[in-house]
Amino acid sequence: MSLAHGPSVFPDGGTRPYYRPRRLRRTPALRRFTAETRIGPANLVQPLFLREGLSEPREIPSMPGVFQHTRDSLRKAAVEAVDKGVGALMLFGIPEHKDPRGSGALDPEGVLQVALRDVSAEVGDATVVIGDINLDEYTDHGHTGVLDANGDVDNDASIELYARVAVVQAEAGAQVVAPSGMMDGQVRRIREALDAAGHQSVAILGYSAKYASHFYGPFRDAVESTLRGDRKTYQQHPGNIRESLREVELDVAEGADMVMVKPALAYLDIVRLIADQVQVPVAAYQVSGEYAMVEAAAAKGWIDRDQIVRESLAAIHRAGATQVITYWAAEFADSLDR
Ligand code: PBG
Repeated sequence: MSLAHGPSVFPDGGTRPYYRPRRLRRTPALRRFTAETRIGPANLVQPLFLREGLSEPREIPSMPGVFQHTRDSLRKAAVEAVDKGVGALMLFGIPEHKDPRGSGALDPEGVLQVALRDVSAEVGDATVVIGDINLDEYTDHGHTGVLDANGDVDNDASIELYARVAVVQAEAGAQVVAPSGMMDGQVRRIREALDAAGHQSVAILGYSAKYASHFYGPFRDAVESTLRGDRKTYQQHPGNIRESLREVELDVAEGADMVMVKPALAYLDIVRLIADQVQVPVAAYQVSGEYAMVEAAAAKGWIDRDQIVRESLAAIHRAGATQVITYWAAEFADSLDR
């Protein structure tokens, strides 16, 4: 970047600027015409939660405006999001009973499979239905996989279970599966299992660069999970950069069709770096803690909620995430920058 090819900024030593970037910002039409990036409804992914055994939708205390759904209210929320133009739905299930092996995740009648079937029947042709592959909503210890004799998450045993979960989800209607467990080799194992079961067309969205983040706090509330210990042996250290590139490189090599960075706002440098380096679509997840912080400050009257939401979505998109997973998807889809 250089100004060497034009007159000096103040020609003849004068004080009147020669270059005036404000010219292109003068009117709404000029600003729209010169906007470099613009996130639209089709780029947004709405996460939705189905809670087993619920008779009324239940608002999640630390995520005001986000609900654990009943089967009925889930179908309605899915239709509403699709009507607003949201590009995809990401479904999570909360089982009534948890156990050490997370069996609910594997059960063809398990809560997430019910959600996938209901939502696919309702809006499957009009949107993209994504299933989250993980065991943490289903295990009583809150970890993402099964534990070995020492209480560590057993990588290879866990990815065998993910492979089975992937097939069960594909059979229930998932068009995309999103392994979020950060186990080594999970994408390859899931690809093999899907292909072997005749689900070659089901795509994999890897939660590839997933940090061990406290921004997931309110999600625990959403899925009624209490974690024993922490996730630092499988999720990434917040200070690391190269590790993200390595994880993404491995996921793409293993067959990920899309990759994700998570959380979003505090990791925009990682989003940019990955977007510059890979040829697959890059998504970012604006997580529960990001949502809660904005809602809490807005409730106090300290920030302009709607403007902050739109600005943060624009920023995540600008950083290089084509798709943004956000709890505000349906609400903001039809009010994005036009
Ligand atoms: C795993 C999963 C989590 C989130 C999405 N998928 C929890 C975790 O890995 O700790 C977090 C999303 C959020 O915080 O909004 N099932």
